[in-house]
Amino acid sequence: MVEVVRAQGGQLGTIVHPASIVSPSAGIGAGAFLAAGAIVGVGAVLAEACLVNTAASVDHDCRFDVGVCIGPGARLAGHVSCEADAFIGLGACILQNLRIGCGAVVGAGAVVTRDVPAGQTVVGCPARPLVR
Ligand SMILES: CC(C)(COP(=O)(O)OP(=O)(O)OC[C@H]1O[C@@H](n2cnc3c(N)ncnc32)[C@H](O)[C@@H]1OP(=O)(O)O)[C@@H](O)C(=O)NCCC(=O)NCCS
Repeated sequence: MVEVVRAQGGQLGTIVHPASIVSPSAGIGAGAFLAAGAIVGVGAVLAEACLVNTAASVDHDCRFDVGVCIGPGARLAGHVSCEADAFIGLGACILQNLRIGCGAVVGAGAVVTRDVPAGQTVVGCPARPLVR
């Protein structure tokens, strides 16, 4: 979507709800949406088109590539890296220093204690790959 907008000469709008809390030292890329109650901590850097949904928190020094989506009420501890298009479900918790791979999905309510490889879906506490 980012590429389509750019290719047509458009600009990415950025929406930051007035009831969100963003550290002055955080970096927020164009096209972001920070919903009500979202918190983005000190030194966090979000690339373009990231979503931090209602009451989710992204703690200090987290790093997001383009298109990362954090569901309502999810909690990311410090120094978590999310690669492009990673999706963190409603109310999930990600422990510190972990990496969530490109396009990975963390299910609602999961507690992630290890890195999640690209493209993998994990659920549960502790989070494990979803077996279908
Ligand atoms: C993890 C998830 C992506 C899987 O979706 P899915 O591929 O459609 O999977 P299904 O609904 O078919 O469920 C498959 C199995 O996983 C289980 N499951 C699904 N989500 C789960 C979760 N979050 N935690 C634990 N188990 C889960 C189901 O109970 C089912 O188990 P069963 O086969 O024993 O009945 C999805 O359930 C989820 O958690 N999405 C996040 C939703 C969210 O955060 N929404 C907010 C948007 S703003």
